[in-house]
Amino acid sequence: MSVKVFETKEVQDLLKAASNVDAGNGNARFQQVVFRLLGDLFKAIDDLDITPDEVWAGINYLNKLGQDGEAALLAAGLGLEKYLDIRMDAEDKAVGLAGGTPRTIEGPLYVAGAPVRDGLSKIDINADADAGPLVIRGTVKGMDGKPVAGAVVECWHANSKGFYSHFDPTGAQSEFNLRGAVKTGADGKYEFRTLMPVGYGCPPHGATQQLLNGLGRHGNRPAHVHFFVTSDSHRKLTTQFNIEGDPLIWDDFAYATREELIPPVVEKTGGAALGLKADAYKDIEFNFTVTPLLQGKDNQLVYRLRASAEA
Ligand code: DHB
Ligand code: FE
Repeated sequence: MSVKVFETKEVQDLLKAASNVDAGNGNARFQQVVFRLLGDLFKAIDDLDITPDEVWAGINYLNKLGQDGEAALLAAGLGLEKYLDIRMDAEDKAVGLAGGTPRTIEGPLYVAGAPVRDGLSKIDINADADAGPLVIRGTVKGMDGKPVAGAVVECWHANSKGFYSHFDPTGAQSEFNLRGAVKTGADGKYEFRTLMPVGYGCPPHGATQQLLNGLGRHGNRPAHVHFFVTSDSHRKLTTQFNIEGDPLIWDDFAYATREELIPPVVEKTGGAALGLKADAYKDIEFNFTVTPLLQGKDNQLVYRLRASAEA
């Protein structure tokens, strides 16, 4: 039987009491957000007649999500992280900022602390028999098209099993394998010598995959490489590119794909001279256009809990 209680004084008073909104003590912003989110939940329970069994299944799910350490994974999989990008894109548009390399989600698998090299870094520390050599290179430019010196390009990606170092359940990778940081010189150039990644899949028994199963969705991403580009004079860019030709490019469970972020993969030879593991290698040129500070400030800096390690 469907009853409607949300609008009653009893429920509205309960919501105000629980969130302590308008109390004069506590954090007013936090109270405002809790009041709204809790109210939206109460209202959804009323509107959809969500049963106690369903509510407790949800509560238990949150416990599993925390135990698995997967809340940030789920945020990507439910499109919440993409939604934040859509909002930042709209903010840029509203202030007339266009023309930079498009942003896309950071994801939960960055690790701070990679050694910073000048211009070039070879980041494949561990052998990976199933991965061929890959060179990723390009120039960091400003909106005026001029190279940006002193920019730091950070890069991180998965191995041939789709696992990231630091988070690899097999323990096969050393700290900072396939993660690196390069500082540009006057020419704005950066280069990573590495190995071709494959796509990432959510842990099959984790809370994220469990929820996706319930939705009839997969939890896979196309092969991709993540980047941060930072410089004192520009806003931080958080982006990725996808590896051209991956069948999941337009079926990414984290919704990170963008048309401008699928650079061509070019077959080259001469890898031996570059110190690569084979002479034939793949080459991806990917240039970054970074955007100016807004009134002297970087409004793209996002604070979130990130892993860090010592190189
Ligand atoms: C997730 C994994 C990734 O490799 C990524 O880039 C983004 C999200 C995830 O598991 O949610
Ligand atoms: Fe990723």
